[in-house]
Amino acid sequence: MIRMKLAVIGTGYVGLVSGVCFSDLGNDVTCVDHAAGKIHMLQQGEVPIYEPGLKELIKKSTDAGRLRFTTDLAAAVRNADVVILAVGTPSLPNGEANLSYIMEAAREIAGAMNGFKVIATKSTVPVGTNEKLESLIRQHSSHSFAIASVPEFLREGSAIRDTMNPDRIVIGTESQQARELLTALHQPLTDRILLTDVRSAEMIKYASNAFLATKISFINEIANICEKVGADVTRVAEGMGYDKRIGSSFLKAGIGYGGSCFPKDTEALIQIAGHVDYDFKLLKSVVEVNRDQRFNVIRKLETILGDLSGTTIAIWGLAFKPETDDVRDAPAYEIMASLIERGAKIKAYDPVAADNFQSNLKHSRISYCLSAQEAALGADALCVLTEWREFQLIPLAAIQTWLKKPNLIDGRNIYSEEELAGTEFVYYSVGRPN
Ligand code: UGA
Repeated sequence: MIRMKLAVIGTGYVGLVSGVCFSDLGNDVTCVDHAAGKIHMLQQGEVPIYEPGLKELIKKSTDAGRLRFTTDLAAAVRNADVVILAVGTPSLPNGEANLSYIMEAAREIAGAMNGFKVIATKSTVPVGTNEKLESLIRQHSSHSFAIASVPEFLREGSAIRDTMNPDRIVIGTESQQARELLTALHQPLTDRILLTDVRSAEMIKYASNAFLATKISFINEIANICEKVGADVTRVAEGMGYDKRIGSSFLKAGIGYGGSCFPKDTEALIQIAGHVDYDFKLLKSVVEVNRDQRFNVIRKLETILGDLSGTTIAIWGLAFKPETDDVRDAPAYEIMASLIERGAKIKAYDPVAADNFQSNLKHSRISYCLSAQEAALGADALCVLTEWREFQLIPLAAIQTWLKKPNLIDGRNIYSEEELAGTEFVYYSVGRPN
C-alpha cells in the first residue's frame, strides 16, 4: 500500500537519503535534480556519494517501484501530496547562506502546482526564509498550499541510521493540514515529534549545529590546556560526559570540525545574528578556535623536526570525517597547504576521499598514494587526520618500519598508550600526555 506521494527536490545528502528512507517506509517517492548527469547515474543504480548502505537501499526501493529519479520537476510536483525542498544552501563569500537555488526551486514548484500541496523545507535556511518562499509561491500560483520547516539532523557516514532513528523530528508550520500530513509521514520514525512555528523550527537547526560545534571547540581548548598541565583530555571528556546535563557525545578532541555543515552553519548564524544587531561573541570564538586547532599539527611537527623545508610528511586521512568521501572544508586542506608553504613534500592517502580531494588540491610536491603503506614509506613523520578504521587496524610496529623516522602526529587520538608501549615513536596526540 502506498502511504504518501512525495517529490523530493535536490539529490544532495539530505534529499537523496530522505527520499530513499521515505520510500523504504512505503511512500511513493520521486527524487528530482537539475543535474542530468547525476540523475542518469542514479537511474542506473549508481550513487554519486559514498554513504554506507545507501546503494543497497536505493536498489531495494527502485526494484519495488516506490522510488524514481528525474529532472522533470513539474511532473514530480504535480504527482505529489508533499514536496520536500532539499536543495543546497552553500555559503556566500560573506558567510551568508546562498538562497538562490531554493528560491529558484520554489518558483518552479509554484509554476507546476495543480492542487493543494504541503511544501516542506529540509534545507538549512536562515530564519524567515520559509516565509519568503511562501510569498514567492503565492505570487506565482493561485493554488492553495502550506509551507513547513522540517529541518534535517542526519550526519554523513551514518545518514541512513540517523534518518531511520532520529532523536527528534521538528515540524514548524502554521497549517493544521501540513501538521497532520507531516506528522503522519514521520510517525513511523519516532514518537518524539516537536510541533512548533516556522521561525522556531528554522532556528532549532542552526542552534543545534552551533551548539555541537561549540562542544567541539570547547573540548579542543580543554585539550590544549591538558597538554600544558599534563592531563588527559579523553579521561576529562569521559568524566564530564557521565553528567547527563553535559552528555558524552561531541566531546572528542581533534583537529577541529570540517564538513559541509558546521563551518557553513556557524558562519550563517553569526550573520543572522548580525542582521538583527546581535554580536554572537561566543560563536565567533568557536569558529576562531576551530580555525586555529588544525595548525597544532604543524606546530607539533615543527617541535619534532624543526624546519619542515625538505622533509617528507605522510598524511593519512583527507575526508573531514570517516565513512564519507566528502572533503568540503576538510581540515586537511589547510594543513597540507601550510606544509607546502613551509617547503615540505607530502604523501597523502585516504581510503575513499582522495579523488575528491585531489581535484581541489594539486601541487608538484603532493603525491596521492594508493595505500596507507605507500604514503608512509620513507616519510619523516606521519600525521593521522581522519580516524578511518583501516588506520586503526594497522599495527604500529609495521608503521614504524615503513617510516624513515618514527614520528607520529595523531590528530584524532586513535592510538592508545598500550599500543605505543614498546615502540620507538615520538608521539604527539591531542590533549594527552606524550
Ligand atoms: C552535522 C550534524 O552532526 C548533523 O546533526 C547535521 O544534520 C549535519 O551536520 C547537517 O547540518 O547537515 P556532519 O557534518 O555530517 O553532521 O558530521 P558530524 O559527525 O557532526 O561531524 C562534523 C565534524 O565534527 C567532523 O569534522 C568531525 O570530525 C568533527 N567532530 C565531531 C569532532 O571533532 N569531535 C566530535 O566529538 C564530533
